Amino acid sequence: MSVSDTQHTPPRAVPLDPSAVVAVVGAGAMGAGIAQVAAAAGHLVRLVDAREGAAATAIDGIRAQYRKLADKGRMTAEAAETAGQRLVAAAGLGDLADAALVVEAIVENLEAKRTLYRELEGIVGDDCIFGTNTSSISVTSIGATLRRPERLAGLHFFNPAPLMALVEIVSGLATDKAVADTLFATAAAWGKTPVHARSTPGFIVNRVARPYYAEALRVLNEGGADCATLDALMRDCGSFRMGPFELMDMIGHDVNFAVTRSVWNAFYNDPRFTPSLIQQELVDAGFFGRKSGRGFFDYRDGATRPAPKEAVAQSTPTDIVLHGQSAAAHALADRLFERGIACRWSEGNEGADGRIAEAGGAVLYVTDGRSATQRAAELGIANVVLIDLALDYASASRIAVGAAINAWAPAIGAAIGLLQAAGFAVSRLNDIPGLIVMRTVAMLANEAADAVNQGVCDARGADAAMRLGVNYPRGPLEWADRVGLPAVRDVLANLTRFYGEDRYRVSPLIQQHVFAGKNIHD
Ligand code: NAI
Repeated sequence: MSVSDTQHTPPRAVPLDPSAVVAVVGAGAMGAGIAQVAAAAGHLVRLVDAREGAAATAIDGIRAQYRKLADKGRMTAEAAETAGQRLVAAAGLGDLADAALVVEAIVENLEAKRTLYRELEGIVGDDCIFGTNTSSISVTSIGATLRRPERLAGLHFFNPAPLMALVEIVSGLATDKAVADTLFATAAAWGKTPVHARSTPGFIVNRVARPYYAEALRVLNEGGADCATLDALMRDCGSFRMGPFELMDMIGHDVNFAVTRSVWNAFYNDPRFTPSLIQQELVDAGFFGRKSGRGFFDYRDGATRPAPKEAVAQSTPTDIVLHGQSAAAHALADRLFERGIACRWSEGNEGADGRIAEAGGAVLYVTDGRSATQRAAELGIANVVLIDLALDYASASRIAVGAAINAWAPAIGAAIGLLQAAGFAVSRLNDIPGLIVMRTVAMLANEAADAVNQGVCDARGADAAMRLGVNYPRGPLEWADRVGLPAVRDVLANLTRFYGEDRYRVSPLIQQHVFAGKNIHD
């Protein structure tokens, strides 16, 4: 856990003592994982499932996991043995009377969860805490029919629970703060990184992650590039672990589309979350992704994955001039120097318009959310070539470019040649505003900012959730601070102007911090 993450720990919150009994209801993928974590932390765990024999089978599986961990040296053989003995298959809810915490990981259905907890209220003690692992149902609604709704909070683990560090601690309207704090401290004692969230659609991760899929689907829909190229850019330039299309194929389009729809519906069809017709088609066709053999990519026997598109090698321009003080310009200079490519820094103030380089008549800028064609028209410069945002321009192996419609082909070739000489694989997109990494990161930050602005979580919680829940290379708000909040605001404002859509409206949190001249994490 990092220093910043520990700042979420509320003062005086005390975790459940390891001697406290933990019950887990639902012995499927999540329930088994949660039971594994709780027993390893020292609790006696009673596992129950409506399906005959499911709890015992899950316990056999968990014990095998402990033995594997011991074989790999991640726990001692003795710890594996004793943790395994702390797991007990319960015959029914009646066996859970001594539980201090009941974690629910049953079917994702409001009535089923309400019924379960109502029944449990007649079995457990009054101070027993209820932690639901729901990923999409309102914690407020689940608690609404309880005699003591204040004892219920969300305890939202990520899959696979033993490996993923994040746990969202979700408070409904009636949740007692002390209950949320105890769950927070307990999750931390179990070796997890908890973050507090208010019960709102998608909580933190499933809400803030929506643009990761949505912007890629928009760019695909507008003919910006093919899936393999966009995936490669998000990996090799944005440093995300998986591209959005391969990730949707892995999650399953049925699941991913249902989450998008549920968040969109829950926010009363806010255009921020509008689902994609392309994904609807995949669902209609039964092309759910890896599990059905086809999605954006073909997984059937003998199928090959298409390669990302790359510009053919261009000759290195001999007249490279670099401008300004941006991270992109400095990284370009270093990369060219390392490769022995001649270039010089401009002595004039042409860089005042934001350009980072010139070569062969082309003028290069980092995208600001305008299309290259729009920027060319507004600047009165024909040969505008835009480059995308990189997590780190010094180490990125690939970069996207977009060129103005009227740009002269040899000038575009010179811009590509410059970037290739600096060691980038160059993937040219059609002239899409905000290219792919920039518009995605700006929208992720915008959504995180709105979640913070609406009191769902704090800024550190939002960033920790996205790093630990979906493995983003950097928290979106920290990323926006580093890019420069005014630049991120401009990208969003320019996308709003270009499309004329409310979807890209700038979060008040970003607006206010730009006006105040502050970073979000100041
Ligand atoms: P699963 O289908 O693998 O397991 C659910 C288990 O609950 C089954 O063994 C089923 O027999 C049992 N069950 C159903 N109704 C029951 C009842 N009334 N009483 C006792 N047992 C009952 O489902 P999974 O994936 O483990 O999901 C469980 C919960 O966790 C859901 O609420 C889901 O939304 C949530 N979740 C799932 C994640 C995932 O990636 N699978 C991630 C985070 C949360």
